[in-house]
Amino acid sequence: MSRLMTLLLCVFATMALAEARVRRYKWDVKYEFKSPDCYKKLAMTINGKTPGPAILAQQGDTVVVEVTNGLVTENLAIHWHGIRQIGTPWSDGTGGVTQCPIFPGDTFTYRFVVDRPGTYLYHAHYGMQREAGLYGSIRVSLPDSMVKPFTYDYDKSIILSDWYHQSTYEQTSGLSSIDFVWVGEPQSLLIQGKGKFDCSKLAPPSSDPSACNATNPECSTYIQTVVPGKTYRLRISSLTTLSALSFQIEGHNMTIVEADGHYVEPIVVQNLFIYSGETYSILIKIDQEPSRNYWITTNIVGRDATATTPPGLAVLNYYPNHPKRVPPTDPPAGPIWNDVTPRLAQSLVIKARQGYIHTPPPKSDRVIVFLNMQNEIDGYVHWSVNNVSLTLPHTPYLIALKENLHHVFDQRPLPDQLYNFADYDIYHVANNTNATSSNAIYRLKFNTTVDIILQNANTLNANNSETHPWHLHGHDFWVLGYGTGKFDIDNDPKKYNLANPIMKNTVPVHPYGWTALRFIADNPGAWLFHCHIESHFYMGMGVVFEEGIEKVGKLPSEIMGCGETKGFERP
Ligand code: C2O
Ligand code: CU
Repeated sequence: MSRLMTLLLCVFATMALAEARVRRYKWDVKYEFKSPDCYKKLAMTINGKTPGPAILAQQGDTVVVEVTNGLVTENLAIHWHGIRQIGTPWSDGTGGVTQCPIFPGDTFTYRFVVDRPGTYLYHAHYGMQREAGLYGSIRVSLPDSMVKPFTYDYDKSIILSDWYHQSTYEQTSGLSSIDFVWVGEPQSLLIQGKGKFDCSKLAPPSSDPSACNATNPECSTYIQTVVPGKTYRLRISSLTTLSALSFQIEGHNMTIVEADGHYVEPIVVQNLFIYSGETYSILIKIDQEPSRNYWITTNIVGRDATATTPPGLAVLNYYPNHPKRVPPTDPPAGPIWNDVTPRLAQSLVIKARQGYIHTPPPKSDRVIVFLNMQNEIDGYVHWSVNNVSLTLPHTPYLIALKENLHHVFDQRPLPDQLYNFADYDIYHVANNTNATSSNAIYRLKFNTTVDIILQNANTLNANNSETHPWHLHGHDFWVLGYGTGKFDIDNDPKKYNLANPIMKNTVPVHPYGWTALRFIADNPGAWLFHCHIESHFYMGMGVVFEEGIEKVGKLPSEIMGCGETKGFERP
């Protein structure tokens, strides 16, 4: 090779390394019959698949996804979970908040920059469509020139989810009728889209052999083949509809190294507790007896599903054993479902990684206490915060705010804490007679520091408090602390971890406990903050924050077309 050639090649190679690329995807969304747990159900697919295709990109890349809604009679919106959408708040994909839904037959293009490395997700964000299987993973790798604080040989993504046999429509109709119908626990847990329902449990047994077929390849066990001696990074994420999960790999310790896109101080666990909307990277060493395979398992925690939902099973296949060789042991039992202690302990022990700590501002400008409540409004069961249950307006907030359409949602400010929070008894069924539904929002002063206290309480059932994983769009927050019982506004803030708190986009509030968060309102737009349990959000468990709306650039006309936005479609 001539010297000039070598030089040119070097120049091109460096350019390719340094230059952010555009990653283009073309997705067709439609309903198809699928059998992810052997039971045939209408599932929402992307290019024929559930989970959908993984998005693989490098920090700084622009991701362009052209989505065609082939659902025929149903609207659609897709959210990029964990991507902050700085400068592109209209690409957040939140139906009713940041855009009009994509109407049947229409094509909508999402375009956004993935500005940080890490493990993220995408999923439908309209009605309860996520439940129907529209989700997938986003993996953003570091620029080639940067090194990670840990090493591994292989990098894999695994999404955990729960799966119902009842359709989205059956579920939403049940939730929104006066004779409230609750779907109960899921039929199956899926590991990377695969589970196993016991077809003999169908009542009455179906005479149609295709309705539930244990030998259908769509429900073959998920197999992760591994090479002895190597280290694997597994990016474990949860997009369950309802369930909190624990995740285990038989005979192997897991070292947690990343959470929601941030490096954490490595900690070794046997069970990884993971809530809907969270992502973790774990490292495992393939160092066990190599002549056999091992179980990968996931179980429901936090709710009693012992009689209803079998554990999700997959196989860690030690090469060169046959991948179909069943491990010689019984799948190990998961942790006890109603023991909160180890879950709270995991929440408390995870800290930001030395050398990668972003310290939070030492003080906040505003403290908002969100009391998590279940209540009845006009005979319907709702979830709410501070007695207000969120309903989305027909005109998306982002457009209404930017175009000054003041009449499309309630302009009154919402309270920063329940008027009687000081006396509120979180341990008993409250008689919340003044609960209301509202589409009012919280307006945050741009660039201010906001503290959120998530306070859990009793539900409408005696002696019951549920785990709620809260997810914030458009930001990461610091997790300053967790506690049990009622938050003490005078004393608990003194115990905040301001030295090395992790940053996340999704965090649980444990039963009868509280969780304290801090974030900076520095991303112009309208952002949802909500419980990631799909039915809870559907029943109103969320709020909307506005900040810096005047700094939002010109809205693309593609997000218009519904409610009062029709006139804004064309310049
Ligand atoms: Cu992953 Cu608003 O959700
Ligand atoms: Cu919830």
